[in-house]
Order: sequence, then structure tokens, then C-alpha cells
Amino acid sequence: MHGGSAPMQRCLTLTLAWHSRLLLRKEIASVRCHQSAAMSSLLINQPKYSWLKELGLSEDNLGVYNGSWGGSGEVVTSYCPANNEPIARVTQATLAEYEETVQKAREAWKVWADIPAPKRGEIVRQIGDALRKKIKVLGSLVSLEMGKIYVEGVGEVQEYVDVCDYAVGLSRMIGGPILPSERPGHALLEQWNPVGLVGIITAFNFPVAVYGWNNAIALTCGNVCLWKGAPTTPLTSVAVTKIVAEVLEQNNLPGAICSMTCGGADIGTAMAKDERVDLLSFTGSTHVGKLVAMMVQERFGRKLLELGGNNAIIVFEDADLNLVVPSAVFASVGTAGQRCTTTRRLMLHESVHDKVVERVAKAYKQVRIGDPWDPSTLYGPLHTIQAVEQYLAAIEQAKQQGGTVVCGGKVMDRPGNYVEPTIITGLPHDAPIVHTETFVPILYVLKFNTEEEAFAWNNEVKQGLSSSIFTKDLGRVFRWMGPKGSDCGIVNVNIPTSGAEIGGAFGGEKHTGGGRESGSDSWKQYMRRSTCTINYSKDLPLAQGIKFE
Ligand code: UN1
Repeated sequence: MHGGSAPMQRCLTLTLAWHSRLLLRKEIASVRCHQSAAMSSLLINQPKYSWLKELGLSEDNLGVYNGSWGGSGEVVTSYCPANNEPIARVTQATLAEYEETVQKAREAWKVWADIPAPKRGEIVRQIGDALRKKIKVLGSLVSLEMGKIYVEGVGEVQEYVDVCDYAVGLSRMIGGPILPSERPGHALLEQWNPVGLVGIITAFNFPVAVYGWNNAIALTCGNVCLWKGAPTTPLTSVAVTKIVAEVLEQNNLPGAICSMTCGGADIGTAMAKDERVDLLSFTGSTHVGKLVAMMVQERFGRKLLELGGNNAIIVFEDADLNLVVPSAVFASVGTAGQRCTTTRRLMLHESVHDKVVERVAKAYKQVRIGDPWDPSTLYGPLHTIQAVEQYLAAIEQAKQQGGTVVCGGKVMDRPGNYVEPTIITGLPHDAPIVHTETFVPILYVLKFNTEEEAFAWNNEVKQGLSSSIFTKDLGRVFRWMGPKGSDCGIVNVNIPTSGAEIGGAFGGEKHTGGGRESGSDSWKQYMRRSTCTINYSKDLPLAQGIKFE
């Protein structure tokens, strides 16, 4: 099996620093040849993967939905990261199909916005139920196409289910305050209305959950959605949209309420520049997020950004190491280091440094590596061959900047994009590579002395997503949550940086983009606020006591 790339993997394990990237480039070219040669043997045609058909997928899938299915743009093949074999193909949207879809979505809004919020909540409840029925098979697709392990694939469908439940409750709770007016016979109140069309651009690493957070809340608020998923996870976008579309169609609602246009940068740019996209929710890298944000700002549009993280776990001298070790392993190795909430920096008090490094490194060596859909696997491949290249480049830079690889550091000798989870010690806290988010499983361990120093290092990176301390000191916990503590959107104590619940507002500060999704009052980002003043008297008193007579 997979004869074409086995020699490549052997070459890669030799990884001599100066020529490893060159070798990798050659091998990427060879895998691509291998990939096109294998086009005739799509995984979907193998009996082992026949379950894909339960999701309505076939060899060739249409990548546009706006009430009916279409797509006549570029054909993309989706590959399985665990073996680089082609799974099936999707035909993306052309710009003309994008245009048609926006028009249909805006027409659909006229219907959807008139439906009372609790009735909209009932539709969202049905979407949650439809997802529940398909949770295992959809989780398996996520595992096959994205490369994360099966339980994590199911877990992110569970996040969509959970946020649907949340949104059903929210549909009876959205409200604004009635405020005391300073004028007699006047009422002062807030009314919240949907913004209209919410564009949702999601990343490869959470191809279901991130759409789900946006979709469930946006719908409940009275918006219609237009989704562009990652170009490397198009089958998941199609499968999710089929589930949602069936609910809309069964309720005789316009399918365009939940539209989808699969595509690349052309469709993303069109969404960012389009004045008819009333809110653009973008999840992805800080680099692309900045380009998107500038385009949306150019037209004074609304945006919700979920960009990069450079998350730290800080372990104090009084920490319970039985919590620290599994937390550090889950948050750095989980999803093969491809969560925006992944722990990238492990800051250890000097008194526990050596002990923790030893225990975490030991745990790393016990992580079960294998096919992501095998239930006993804890660690799967990177999503793309390009990510393997970024992994090797980051390790080289870390070594040049003074780091020591204590564990991992190599590409693995097996098919697929597998790399060893890696721990690097000895780098300065402000080494350029430590301040860079490389979306791979490399953990930088830093040694600190004081609380002040650790909090400062936590905050000195550009990103501001997630952060955790491990301590039993109650004063320190409150300092960590307070004005001089963590500057991140997610501030944890005695738990990992990743794995947030849907009930809280999810997002971060600074270069993470400032957006908040999912629970708490994140719904406000999907609505516009009207401050309404109603005079029910026969007089016209002016505010601030002004007489204009
Ligand atoms: C992401 O990586 O884009 O907190 C989202 C977590 C998940 C979501 C991560 N619930 O790790």
C-alpha cells in the first residue's frame, strides 16, 4: 500500500538539517505525481469506506448549495492525511455561482427574519437532532479528511450539537434592557435585530465545530448564513450542509438560509469585499485574518475574527503535577498540535522544571500513534505535507536559536503526514521561534523564577487566545484573572489551554482578532442594537434640559 511515498518517508527520517527541506520539496512533488496517478482509485470506492455514502457523498460532489445543489468551478480532490490517498472530489463554486447564492440567501432572509425567534430555535433544535443521528459517521469523516483522531472528530460534532441546544434556549432569552429615561412620558429601550447575511469562513482544523458555533447562534438571531469551509476539507462542508439542508427542506423553508460555496481565496475575497455580507466571521491564520480584516474594514463591514494563538501553561512550585502532566500532553499533542488553543509554551518554575520535563517527555513517548480512525490512537498525522515542511523548518530554527530537542524532532517512517510530537527546552522566552505560532506539535519549555516574570512572558507574545496556570495559591488565581494577570480571552486554572466548553464566549485579544463566538453574550456579535426612545406624552421635553423655543 502506498508504495510511492514510502521511500520518501525513509529519506525524511534522515533529516540532515541543511538538505531536509530540499528533500521534502522533491518528495512533495513525487507524492503529487502519486496522487494524480491514484485518482482512479478513490477511497470512497473501497468497501472499507462505503460508510461515506451514508453522508450522501459520492465520487464527485457538488460544492454549492443555495436551496438547490450546483457547482461548476474548479474540481478539488480531498486527500486523507493519514495516507495521502484521494478520498473523493468536490466541484467548487464559480464567482457567478457565488453571486447567485448571495442573492438567494438574501431573498431567504426575508422569510427567515419574519419567523419568531423561538420558532427559529425549533429549527435549530431539529438541526441538532439531525446531527446527533449522524454523529459517528460525521466524526469518522472528520477523522478521515482532517486527520484528527476519531474521538476528537466526534467531539467536534458534539460541539455543534451542544451549541444547537444552547441556541434553542437562547431563542427565548434574547432581550435588551428597558432603561430609565430622564424625560417624563418617555420610554428608553434596546431592541436587537439580526444583521442579515452572515458569511462564515472556517479553517481545516475544526471543519464542523466552528461552523456550528456560528451557524446555530446566527440562525437563532434571525440571520441567514453563507459558508465557505477550508479547501482541504470540502467533503465535510458538503456532508454538514446536506444534514442542515434536509432539516430546512423538511420544514418547507428556503434552503438558502444555510448556503454554502466551496472555494478558495477567490470566494473568500469576494465575501470579504461584499457589502451584502453584513457580518464576516473568519477563523484562520493571523496572516490571512489581517488581509480579510482590512478588506472588511475598507467597506466599514462587521467582522468576527478567530485567529492565531500562542498559548502557555504556567506551572508554579505548588502545582499538582498529577494534573499538570496529562494537561500538558493533551493540550500540546492533542489534534497533533493543530488547535488554535494548543499549548505551545510550557513555562515551568525552576524548582519543578527538570521533574516536569522528565515526566512529560516520558508521557510523550507513550502516546499511541496510528491511523486516526483507530479507536486506540491518540495521535494522528498533520493535515498537509506543507505542514510537515513547516515542522522541520521550525525545529531547525529552534536549534539555531539555542534550543535542545529532548523528545521527537523527526518525520516518521510511515505513510501519511506523520511527525513526532516534539519537546524543545533551553530557549530564551523571547526567542523569535517561541513567539511564532507554527501549527504543529512542538512544545517549547521555558524556565522561570517569579510569578511576575511568568505573567509577563505569558503576555509578551502578539497573540492573546488561551492561557492556564497550575497552582493552589488562591491569591495567585485572582491575580491571574485580574488586570495585571493574563491578557488572553481564555484564562484557565488547573486545566489545559485547549478544550473549551461551548457555554463560554470563545475568542481572544490582540492578534487573535478580538472576536467572541459560541456561548455567553456572543450572540450580540450577530445582531445590531437599536436604542429606541418613544415619547408617549403630549409634550416634547428635550434631553439635557435644553429649551429650544
Ligand atoms: C480552534 O482550534 O479553532 O477549545 C478551536 C478548544 C476547542 C475549539 C478550538 N473547543 O480547543
